[in-house]
Parts: sequence; C-alpha cells; structure tokens
Amino acid sequence: MSKDLRGLNMIAAHSHIRGLGVDATTLEPKAASQGLVGQEKARKSAAVMLQMIKEGNVAGRAVLIAGPPSTGKTALAMGMAQSLGPDVPFTSLAASEIYSLEMSKTEALKQAFRKSIGVRIKEESEIMEGEVVEIQIDRSVTGSAKQGKLTIKTTDMEAVYDMGNKMIDAMTKERIMAGDIISIDKSSGKITKLGRSYARSRDYDAMGVDTKFLQCPDGELQKRKETVHTVTLHEIDVINSRTQGFLALFSGDTGEIRSEIRDQINIKVGEWKEEGKAEIVPGVLFIDEVHMLDIESFAFLNSALEDELAPIVIMASNRANAKVRGTDYRSPHGLPFDFLDRVVIIKTHPYSPEDLKQILSVRAQEEEVDLSPDALALLTKVGSETGLRYAANLITTSQLIAAKRRAKQVSVEDVQRSFTLFYDPARSAKFVASFEQHLLGNNGAAAGSSANVDTVMT
Ligand SMILES: Nc1ncnc2c1ncn2[C@@H]1O[C@H](COP(=O)(O)OP(=O)(O)O)[C@@H](O)[C@H]1O
Ligand SMILES: [Mg+2]
Repeated sequence: MSKDLRGLNMIAAHSHIRGLGVDATTLEPKAASQGLVGQEKARKSAAVMLQMIKEGNVAGRAVLIAGPPSTGKTALAMGMAQSLGPDVPFTSLAASEIYSLEMSKTEALKQAFRKSIGVRIKEESEIMEGEVVEIQIDRSVTGSAKQGKLTIKTTDMEAVYDMGNKMIDAMTKERIMAGDIISIDKSSGKITKLGRSYARSRDYDAMGVDTKFLQCPDGELQKRKETVHTVTLHEIDVINSRTQGFLALFSGDTGEIRSEIRDQINIKVGEWKEEGKAEIVPGVLFIDEVHMLDIESFAFLNSALEDELAPIVIMASNRANAKVRGTDYRSPHGLPFDFLDRVVIIKTHPYSPEDLKQILSVRAQEEEVDLSPDALALLTKVGSETGLRYAANLITTSQLIAAKRRAKQVSVEDVQRSFTLFYDPARSAKFVASFEQHLLGNNGAAAGSSANVDTVMT
C-alpha cells in the first residue's frame, strides 16, 4: 500500500477502522464490526465493490461515495483499503493536494494513477536448503585469505561444499552454526537463517525465546524456488528515470517524469506479462473531496480510465450541486456530466443518535479515553446537532481538561467546558456574523448571502 500521499490527519481520525465489518461469505454488514458502525447499505455496496476489485475485473471503473459531511465517506474508503490484499496498492489524496505539489496537475494525477497499479513480478531462483552439519574454517596465519568447508544435509542426502571468503563472511555475519536450517540463494549468495533443527533443540539451554524450530528439510539439497514481489508502476518509472534515479524514491522528490519513459515501461511490462513473468495488479486510487478537481483534471481522469493500465478510482464528495471548477456550469457533486456518466454512486446517510453514540464510544476506546455515561450522552447530543467530527474532536479536548484536574474519567462538566472553549463551525459562523462589521470578507464586503454558493448535502 502506498502511503506517502496520505495525510497524517486522515489516518489518525480513522485509526479505529480495520475493515468494512462484513460477513466474509454473504458480504452482509454486521451492526458494528472492525470499527465500523451502521451505514449498512453503503458498507454492503462497498463490500461488493471490494469483492469485484479482488477478482480483478473492475479496473478502469470509478466509484463515487456521496453524502453529507461526517457520514463516514472517508471512513468507508479506509475500510476498503484495509481489506485489500497485502500487495494491492492503495493511494489516497485530497483533490486540493494536486494544486500544491511542485508539478503540473495532470502529472500529479498521473503519478497517483501509477502508484495505484502494482506489477507482481515472478522470479525463479535456484536455492540450496538444508540443515548445517558442520562448518569448518581454516584461517591463514595472516588472517586475510580464508577457506572453509560447509557440510549440509537434508533427510535424504548430505554434501560438502567449499566456501570462499565472501561466503565465510556471510556465514559469520548471520551467525550460522551447526544445527541451523539455512537457505542459500545461488545467484546472489544471500544466506538466510530459517530456524533451528528440532534434532538440536536440546543442545543449548541459552536459546533465544524467538528461536524457530524446524524439521530438517527433505528431498534434494538444491531446489528451484519461485519468489514473487510487487512494485508499483510509479516505482519502476522513478528507478528508470535517468534524471532522478533510485534515490528519488527515498526523498520522494521525483519531479516530472518524461512520457517516453512511461511509454517504454508500459511496453516492457507488457512483454513481461506476455512471457508470464509478471502480472498486473490494479489497485485503488482514492480521491477525497473530488469536487475540488477542475475540468482539466476530470478530462485527464476520463481518458486515463480508458487506458489499458488503470486502477479503480474511488472518490468522495459532500456536494449536492456545485460548480465544476474551471467552468460556468453546475452539476451534481461538482462532476462534469460526461464523467458522471461512468461513475457508480454509493450514498451515505446521516446517523441516528444510537449510531452516533456507538461511533463516539468506539473513538473514545481508540483514544483510550474513559467517558462517563452522561459525558457520552452529551457528546452524542452535540454530535447530532453539530456533526460527528466536531463531537469526536471534543473527546480529545475533554480528556485534556479531565487530565488537568487529575481525573481518570471524563465527566459531563469536562465536555461542557470543552464545548465552550472550542467552537463548532455553526457557532463560529454565528460569531463571525455578529461581528461582521469588524471582519472583512474577501472582496471587502461582508460574507453571507450569494445565490451562487455550492450546496452541501444534508
Ligand atoms: N460508520 C462509522 N463507523 C465508525 N466510525 C465512523 C463511521 N462514520 C464515520 N466515522 C468516523 O467519524 C469521523 C468522520 O467521518 P468521515 O469519514 O471523515 O466523514 P466524511 O468523509 O463523510 O465527511 C471519522 O473519524 C470517521 O472515522
Ligand atoms: Mg471525508
């Protein structure tokens, strides 16, 4: 999973989410599971989508999660991310991020796309695997040139090999001794200690607690082994981009990548695929607050989704009707009509007080905050009046206030105090309105009524 574009905040607020909380076979959502509460219909839709992603047949599709603020749109996407296979890439970005990166908007989107496509590369290697019987090292008087012999066995055979300098160093470094089960990659010479032989388990009493005991391998000493590793197309791009190279992967400072490089890599990956050396793993690109994209970015998305190498794109928006950025027309969720056409929509709905209560209680557990029952009740009331996110933030601030008076449990007074110290958006707006004459708006006029404002879903 690619993590570099994901904001820290986004993770923290959703750290309690471990999956979609659905039954593995029926995909029916459980009332509260894996950190998710309620919102059953949306969770079921997301689970069906996820199943299709896992089966690998929805590349190039786009899903929009649409609903009012604080109804779990981002949470749902995080739940899906948690349930993807370990080598399925997941990239997430807030649409407004593409305007702040030091590259063009379309380049930023292109990189995000390619970060969301995995290439599973298979490699056959020849290895030697067995139990070490004896290691014999002859040191020359000067201590420099070394020579040695390694006796290694399986249950079926035993063989002696000469060891050179490099091999002896590797053996010493890995602290290999008689009784260890080891594997040696013949092409790279890499030695891996797999564990210790059961037969030797009583040889030493000072064995580490994490020592793994294994049976002595059977069969031939030399085996062919298939190893699989997954990289993203973007990683291949960066490594092959002569101007940036390998180190850019660590600095994250990749700049723009030339299109010829991408073309070459697509051809190469296509060849690997033909030869059975590689498999394409379409991953997920999550674009939050998607109404912040402009018409050019949507045009790019539209054509990029047609590409043979495309991930599945999941988007979220809380806009009911909004102006498409860079145009003069308004459309549902701020998506241009031709793009809207290809999108499957999942709706989220406002929570009932019971759901709110349970979500807040899950959050409190996650933050290891002990709320008194009436504190939780008050937070729930605040949540249903001003929004879940504000109420969740009050958990943290109330805890700080409780800690100040050295209380272990957050009381209703702590929540009240928090509520008066920190404003929610609605009260803040009221405050701004009442001081309008002192605060200037963008155009020098007082903010407020305008017929052309976006409507947020309710
Ligand atoms: N159904 C849910 N179960 C558990 N936590 C939720 C649920 N819905 C929202 N949350 C949590 O409430 C907060 C606000 O939800 P969020 O997903 O950010 O809303 P949105 O993206 O729709 O504005 C987040 O901390 C989120 O993890
Ligand atoms: Mg969100």
